[in-house]
Amino acid sequence: MSELPARRVFVTRPIPAAGLELLAAAGAEVAVCPESLDGPQARDIAAGVAGADVLLSLLTETITAAQLDAAPHLLGVANYAVGHDNLDLAAATRLGIPVSNTPDVLTESTADLTWALLLGAARRVVEADRFMRRGKYRRWGPELLLGHDVSTGADGRRRVLGIIGFGRIGQAVARRATGFDVDVVAFHPRGAEAVDADLARAVSLSELLATSDFVSLHVPLTPATHHLIGAAELQAMKPTAVLVNTARGPVVDEAALVAALRDGTIAAAGLDVYEHEPAMAEGLAELANTVLLPHIGSASGSTRDAMARIAARNAVAMLRAEPAPECINPEVYATAAFARRRDRVTA
Ligand code: GLV
Ligand code: GLV
Repeated sequence: MSELPARRVFVTRPIPAAGLELLAAAGAEVAVCPESLDGPQARDIAAGVAGADVLLSLLTETITAAQLDAAPHLLGVANYAVGHDNLDLAAATRLGIPVSNTPDVLTESTADLTWALLLGAARRVVEADRFMRRGKYRRWGPELLLGHDVSTGADGRRRVLGIIGFGRIGQAVARRATGFDVDVVAFHPRGAEAVDADLARAVSLSELLATSDFVSLHVPLTPATHHLIGAAELQAMKPTAVLVNTARGPVVDEAALVAALRDGTIAAAGLDVYEHEPAMAEGLAELANTVLLPHIGSASGSTRDAMARIAARNAVAMLRAEPAPECINPEVYATAAFARRRDRVTA
């Protein structure tokens, strides 16, 4: 392997060894940001970014335009996540900085967890588990912990799963629906053409909300999807509906969701993400009709290792000033701003 033209990789939080080993094998000098109980301090992040050739960031760190602007050597940002709402992509592109993410490898894990939340919330699995552990199970009874059918119920009615955002993860959630005999409808912000008719019937957002028994969110967080589900949308859902969010917290107005769950506007929710993560909206934790998880959609060992390897592979390409394989702003490579960064290390 040829010498790296640039070496310094700043990692905002520890990532799995599979990624760090790849960086070391390529000859990179890796600095992992020191972390307190609350995570790394903003000033340590800012100083690390300013001195780095490549930044490897996690979704917990906000990377601002000002930080990128103060990083003259930066040849790229490899984000350890498929989502990239934690960093200012527009600023990176303007400054000639390539950004990569970790798509595909976490699609199936996240779709699995979506179904775990859907089933768990509909059939009250966590509530029932708490019931057992608290020693409340004295006698079986016909009305004990009744939930909502996911498959066609004994009433013969096929349930409807509404998927909002029909990208890789939304489609993987739809594929799993076959075994449960549910009808799948989908709303994709880019338009009905993006919905594969073999997997789902494309509908408007209002039809989806009005007809779905289960509503699952799979859109990225952008200004257009912020509070996509608010009080009015919750009101438009069935009182028996279950909302599942494994996407990003701010897609849902969490205070409005707490109110809707409390007053029976909808039946239940399964959440893996929160509007002000890791904090929860007031009252959410007290609601029995919720299943609450700490952002573990992609949390399997093999998926997290694969994410670490992808982030590292992209970081190494960036150190070489070569196109990063999972670059999400590839238009940057044609800009003078990128050429100036590249020429500084390869000249
Ligand atoms: C996790 O939320 C990710 O975006 O990878
Ligand atoms: C329930 O346990 C049943 O046997 O119906």
